[in-house]
Amino acid sequence: MSRPAETIPDSVDPDALLVRPARDRTQKLGRRLVSHFYLVAKTAAMFDFSNVNAREALSTFLATLDELLSVEPEVTLQVASDCVFVNESRLKIDFEGFASFKYAIEAFNDRDIGAVTFARGVSEEDLTVFLRLWIENDRSVAEPRHRIRRGLEAAGIDRIELEESRALPETVTRKTEGERETSLNTYFKAIFVAKQFMEDFHGRRTRYLQKARRLVHSIVDIIAQDESTLLALTQIKNFDEFLFTHSANVCVLSVSLGQNLGLDKVLLGALGLAALTHDVGMMEIPKGLFERRDSLLPEERLAYERHPAAGVQAILKSQGVSDVSIRCALVAFEHHLNEDYSGFPSRVYQRPRSLLSRIVAICDFYDTITTPGSEDDRVFSPEEALRLMAHEGSDVFNPLLVKVFINTIGTYPLGTLVRLDTGEIGIIHRRAVEGSAAARPLVKLIADELGMPIPHEVVDLNEWDAERDRYRRSIAETISPSDYFDEAQEFIDLL
Ligand SMILES: [Fe+2]
Ligand SMILES: [Fe+2]
Repeated sequence: MSRPAETIPDSVDPDALLVRPARDRTQKLGRRLVSHFYLVAKTAAMFDFSNVNAREALSTFLATLDELLSVEPEVTLQVASDCVFVNESRLKIDFEGFASFKYAIEAFNDRDIGAVTFARGVSEEDLTVFLRLWIENDRSVAEPRHRIRRGLEAAGIDRIELEESRALPETVTRKTEGERETSLNTYFKAIFVAKQFMEDFHGRRTRYLQKARRLVHSIVDIIAQDESTLLALTQIKNFDEFLFTHSANVCVLSVSLGQNLGLDKVLLGALGLAALTHDVGMMEIPKGLFERRDSLLPEERLAYERHPAAGVQAILKSQGVSDVSIRCALVAFEHHLNEDYSGFPSRVYQRPRSLLSRIVAICDFYDTITTPGSEDDRVFSPEEALRLMAHEGSDVFNPLLVKVFINTIGTYPLGTLVRLDTGEIGIIHRRAVEGSAAARPLVKLIADELGMPIPHEVVDLNEWDAERDRYRRSIAETISPSDYFDEAQEFIDLL
């Protein structure tokens, strides 16, 4: 379904509207360029350019490049501060673009390159030489940027230029971003940082620890102001980077729960970092066990249950012993232990579990059972999951913490897609107004009873229909976003 047109509020500066189409175009074409660059680089790594797939990927990339070059004399693809820019316009990351953005950021960093500029007139032959050099010179060789540059010079190519780094466009500051966009970027960054941190902890991990800390601080700050978008994003589960999305989700959920418990900022930072790295031990056990959690063979289960201890080893080995690393290691070790010390690893000491571990255990369990795993696993809707957790005995979770958790995300978590008893479809937009039942939140309507898109209107489920002596609208059922939307991006656009 497509998004209904929105009216332009009176306060919009008409001049700003004139420059918008050009900016939108750069955004659209820029994202396409990054995606085609990813495809051609991946294909070129596998095939020679005599191969039909490689040639096709190359001409698609060139076509997009030419489209941009038809209006600008040069196109600069730039990576800075984990963001991707095309001609100084920061590209907004989205679900479809996630893999290609990630590739661009990693590939530029690996080659110590900040920007690549393509000038008008760049030919297919130029690109073939450039891509060959690009593939051959990554971080496995010394000075990859110089080698690529020398290779281009040797081939007489002057329409492709490399730069080590380029100053960030002045317009790029966090303050200029809307709150919603900041939340979106932070969420995607959380997945990305979790991946970098977990995949690279044998090597340059300390570098990523700093990054992870900064990121967790942004999450804490956002949640202190308005956690609605971040919490809603944790609802989207159809992502291929399963483990890293899970880590980001558990981080967001834990910080929200911690904030509702009244933890101070320092402790919230420690909690967020520990939540982000709680499953780091999964990197030490065979791949694929995490996704299949409920359908493991006995020997696979044994391997899976090693991940808390493996996490402790990985954290202490790479980070050394400090307050921060000990807290993270403790949470990694204890997050599958229940209140009565059942769970795994089997109890080896008598000390009470840390508060941070208990918080992470709750958020971890919730995110895991609401995420589709293998086909045999049961997936719980958010309210089914919360009901299950509320009815678990106090031997599993701390009942008080579960109560605060349910309060934190609401009986119907923000971002949940619902069908109302009127047949209309909407998204949980805000929690129920104070003093009213949790089952009566504010809902943003997106489709009428026939499923047709309608202008978005936020309605309060507390509205009373005096004529019929009943609530005007109530929630009939929740719907999984993947059952309703073709693309996750359509869902995100509605948040
Ligand atoms: Fe785990
Ligand atoms: Fe987990």
